[in-house]
Amino acid sequence: MYQESFFVYAAEQIIENGYVVFDDLLDGQNLNDLKQRFVELQREEEFEKSGIGKQQAYTIDNNVRGDFIRWIDEKDIESPTAPLFQIVNELIKQFNRVCYLGIKDFETHYAYYPKGKGYEMHRDRFKKNPHRLISFVFYLNENWNFGDGGELVLYNEDKFAIKTIEPIENRLAIFLSETLHEVLACNKERNSITGWLLDIPKEITFITS
Ligand code: OGA
Ligand code: NI
Repeated sequence: MYQESFFVYAAEQIIENGYVVFDDLLDGQNLNDLKQRFVELQREEEFEKSGIGKQQAYTIDNNVRGDFIRWIDEKDIESPTAPLFQIVNELIKQFNRVCYLGIKDFETHYAYYPKGKGYEMHRDRFKKNPHRLISFVFYLNENWNFGDGGELVLYNEDKFAIKTIEPIENRLAIFLSETLHEVLACNKERNSITGWLLDIPKEITFITS
């Protein structure tokens, strides 16, 4: 398990740059368990086409957002997501202590982008959904090579790219949810776990948004 200094460093980087990236996050066994679960869920057709907006405003537009998702029950300690979520919980502690973010909960889903798909420039935090403070993505793509596309690009407010992150296996990308960002079209299927740290308990997001 990681030392506290690892999580403190993450929080400091968020204050300084608005993002941080870690490689080789999980050990091999935990990573393989997650990848296996991902394939099982795909085989069981557990994924559904993602949409944008919430409730009445919910629409599906494949040109804006091309991924398929499957929500995760974060309380399920039997799930192979447990080691990842243990790290997320440590991160939350330090984000609250060092950055005073007041994070109360988090929500996550598995996601895959079929070949050719991406997600146009957007923010994960906006007026109608202000409760997502921090976004994170854990990538599950074996042998991801330069030219496979699917990079996560972070932009500044002038829409100038400030960071390009390849979705390579066992990498965790963390960034402020208000950041403009985009997923470039991928040239082969792209798998991940995406999550958001919330400033309210997640049951409440359904009521208030
Ligand atoms: C999202 C998103 C980034 C990624 O799901 O909102 O921006 O790298 N994902 O998958
Ligand atoms: Ni996003």
